[in-house]
Amino acid sequence: MQPVRVLTGITTSGTPHLGNYVGAIRPTVRASRLADVESFYFLADYHALIKTGDPARVQRSTLEIAATWLACGLDPEKVTFYRQSDIPEIPELCWLLTCVTGKGLLNRAHAYKASVDKNTAAGTEPDDGVTAGLFMYPVLMAADILMFNAHQVPVGRDQVQHIEMARDIASSFNHLYGEHFTLPEAAIEAHVATLPGLDGRKMSKSYDNTIPLFVPREQLRKLIMGIVTDSRLPGEPKSTDGSALFQLYQAFATEAETADLARAYADGIAWGEAKERLFERLDREIAPMRAVYDELMKDPGRIEAVLKAGAAKARATATPFTARLRHAVGLRPLDQVAEVRKTKGAKAAGPVFKQYRESDGRFHFKLTDAKGTVLLQSRGFEAPRDAAQAMARIQAEGLAAVAALQDRLEPSPDPAALASALDALATPAG
Ligand code: TRP
Repeated sequence: MQPVRVLTGITTSGTPHLGNYVGAIRPTVRASRLADVESFYFLADYHALIKTGDPARVQRSTLEIAATWLACGLDPEKVTFYRQSDIPEIPELCWLLTCVTGKGLLNRAHAYKASVDKNTAAGTEPDDGVTAGLFMYPVLMAADILMFNAHQVPVGRDQVQHIEMARDIASSFNHLYGEHFTLPEAAIEAHVATLPGLDGRKMSKSYDNTIPLFVPREQLRKLIMGIVTDSRLPGEPKSTDGSALFQLYQAFATEAETADLARAYADGIAWGEAKERLFERLDREIAPMRAVYDELMKDPGRIEAVLKAGAAKARATATPFTARLRHAVGLRPLDQVAEVRKTKGAKAAGPVFKQYRESDGRFHFKLTDAKGTVLLQSRGFEAPRDAAQAMARIQAEGLAAVAALQDRLEPSPDPAALASALDALATPAG
């Protein structure tokens, strides 16, 4: 069975807060540990440029978010964890997709429409202050997702429309150039609560009511003491309904602990004491991660190295896939076109797979072009059957299989030629 590919991006324009932790980071890290998923997590720093024009903030946020995910237990060995701007194939794909995206589709994007509506209400030009980056936001996001042929994209509700647009864009491309892209689906965590902020409204940067995840212990305490409560006095029974404090506690505590606090509310616990309990409970979960975070923040070079390694892993897929897409749309070496025409006339002169046994007794296969140049070579297999199966899979599935089997293969000396050879094999001549 092919593992499900899950991919999500985090825009690097802010500092992670408790709401991000409970709503995204914690469930995502847990899900990434499952055996049958292949996960891609990336720092969407190109997207950050749409939201902010502050270079220091982009860099700082990228560091903070990367350190946060690592401190919260994301394992860069198990998942592919990278920074969007380390993958030049993504803006390249963004352009290929731009050329099949209807402008009308983008006109309907919620974020863009909201800006236009605001301007209209204020009596200014509809596109006042709207950058082309904001307008193109969904296409860049589609490139992020389609590059890795993700099946599932865990996002908040506000992003669902973007996933639908990615599907539309993928369909347009597939329709025009052949089946290259998997159509992604949004995965919304239905049971994950949205966390209230300090003022009781949804915790969000735009309300300025957040509790940053990794503030020092004493500062965390101070922030929690500032959560709004009603004016009930110690000894008066309190309602858990609509209590931000209670909801925050619930997001971290076990059911038994939560039931305990509910009883304390009914018994008239003082707000100060309830806050103290919340603080201790939060800090119990956060403190060990905070220690790792603080260490990481002191050593940005280490994070940089992790991201660079992640980029190499991501590009092992992105580079050959982009070569295939370039070929599909007609961005081809000029001499290759002539070659393909020739082989169409003379069937036998196309690329061929060959299986053979090395002197070490292991089984290998290779793909050569009409001239005998090696385009792809496998590493050794113990059993001839395994080599044959891998070979058949590549023949049937093309570059997707090359990516999936990458640790059984030598890197191709010429990914572009490999892409067109696999293409030629997939579409029988004539
Ligand atoms: N737009 C997403 C957000 O603001 C971040 C993002 C960028 C993303 N590219 C993505 C999420 C691709 C999922 C897949 O939350």
